[in-house]
Amino acid sequence: MKKKEKNLKTSTEVITEIKFLRDQIKDWKKQGLVIGLVPTMGALHVGHESLIKKARVECDRVVVSVFVNPIQFGPNEDYDKYPRQLESDKEICSRNKVNLIFAPTPREMYPETHIFTTVVPPSSYQDKLCGKSRIGHFNGVATVVLKLFNIAQPDKAYFGQKDAQQLIIIKKMARDLDVPIEIIGCPIIRDADGLALSSRNTYLSVDDRQKALTLSKVLRNIKESYEAGIYSCKEAVNNALHLLHPDAELEYLECLDANTLEKVDILKENTFVAIAARIKNVRLIDNLLF
Ligand code: PAJ
Repeated sequence: MKKKEKNLKTSTEVITEIKFLRDQIKDWKKQGLVIGLVPTMGALHVGHESLIKKARVECDRVVVSVFVNPIQFGPNEDYDKYPRQLESDKEICSRNKVNLIFAPTPREMYPETHIFTTVVPPSSYQDKLCGKSRIGHFNGVATVVLKLFNIAQPDKAYFGQKDAQQLIIIKKMARDLDVPIEIIGCPIIRDADGLALSSRNTYLSVDDRQKALTLSKVLRNIKESYEAGIYSCKEAVNNALHLLHPDAELEYLECLDANTLEKVDILKENTFVAIAARIKNVRLIDNLLF
């Protein structure tokens, strides 16, 4: 009991300035420690926690960044109302023995507010799925992730399969720009009812949550038909679509190659099915990797 109380008191330190994080990283590097980075926008849930736990097992020191990155939000998106809850994020990090939280302000990350260099992933990786409706989103993601990589200089960085297009784009960026960091993809964590965990789920009413569940039902149906021998994307998608709640406004349901993001006709290993739909104005995504 006493030990438990003691552990609760050791809360993870929050660093807000780049130069202080750099000093700490330099010190760890001198000691030859393996550093893991888990980039997040906060409002941490069990999905984020799974990335942190993997990093905790594989690395000597774990840094979690918490930064709601303004440049990856479009003008009509939810930047202002995106949940910010550093206190509970801190608790989750402390519980998981995270060594440091890096929580910079937008000004710390983008001091030259309007004119700065950005990373632009290839258009063939951006002109589909989420990139089609969220113009410039992946420029914003790639830019902040490369900045975080340069600031924290981790050996390994952890990303969720939940954001499949993001993971593929970051892997591509790391290959193309010779980033000496191992990019580790982690499986999607779901609630018991199948809904993929997301910080945006907090926007859903009880009723809307039931409708949101039908995204994962569609994917589950495609998986079941695959297991029953239906490999044609068209057929699988057509058979499953009726499961989507009529109030869910479908944005896409597509089958793609998990390395190149090219469309595929046949489901097989290393392809994935991705879905995005809006319930009222909450935009939800999910996918299934084969
Ligand atoms: P955020 O949405 O906070 O997600 C942080 C990481 O957690 C991402 O790699 C995401 O894929 C992963 N994640 C979210 N929900 C998950 C789930 N249910 N199961 C497994 N992993 C999950 O993605 C971002 O932030 C940002 O774009 C970021 C990469 C931090 C750049 O700003």
